[in-house]
Amino acid sequence: MDVVIQPTAEAAYRLVARVLAADLRRKPQLVLGLATGSTMEGVYRELVRMHREEKLDFSLCRTFNLDEYIGLPPTHPNSYRRFMRERLFNLVNLDPRNTHLPDGMAADLNAECARYEALIRDAGGIDLQLLGIGRVGHIGFNEPLSAFRSRTRVKALSPTTIAQNRSQFADPSKMPRRAITMGVGTILDTARCILLATGAAKAGIVARAVEGPITGMVSATALQLHPRCHVVVDKAAAARLKGRDYYRWTFENEPEWEPFR
Ligand code: GLP
Repeated sequence: MDVVIQPTAEAAYRLVARVLAADLRRKPQLVLGLATGSTMEGVYRELVRMHREEKLDFSLCRTFNLDEYIGLPPTHPNSYRRFMRERLFNLVNLDPRNTHLPDGMAADLNAECARYEALIRDAGGIDLQLLGIGRVGHIGFNEPLSAFRSRTRVKALSPTTIAQNRSQFADPSKMPRRAITMGVGTILDTARCILLATGAAKAGIVARAVEGPITGMVSATALQLHPRCHVVVDKAAAARLKGRDYYRWTFENEPEWEPFR
């Protein structure tokens, strides 16, 4: 794991977009894992800008999102499919047939989870996965006590997650209580991943995820087991990391980061 600290949230979004763009230019058929949440909006804004101004080409790229609410049709204002359409899919030249999210309306949810896993496998696995982090330390919707070897499955949302996300719903009482999410094991199988967190409200959970003991209670701690995981944070979200100076030094001196400094 390495930690990249940027001075501002904007700089953190731009850095993640630049890493992604570099991978996409190197491999136009990139298999991208995508995430939702307000943190990702800045990254998608920057990718849309790069598509328009720098001809960043998504025509051969395939995408897999982490999760989707159960019971929301793709057109519902709070569905993650709608979120992705409005922030990225409709604004760049992604082929809609190449954009995948779990189907939260499937009649047989377990079969849908198995289908999603098979689709990822058939695509050759995920090359680069974007991740946000929720207040409980979840990645995707892997709530506390998610098994580290779990695959895509149905997960009941924790009270903290419900409290965090319900205000986004016009009628908060209608927020789904369950979601389909890639498992922690699915995420650990990605070739490379980036956890992005910004703002002071994330400082505590970021410190636990990066420097705390590995525990099923905080599924983001599983990323300490990932062979190639970058944690990108702004100064505010980095505030409680004990190793800040070492991480800064590594970023400044690591040849891999040179094009992004
Ligand atoms: C939701 C998503 C997570 C995401 C989290 C963070 O719960 N399922 O994948 O990490 O939101 O949201 P935000 O970026 O708004 O803090």
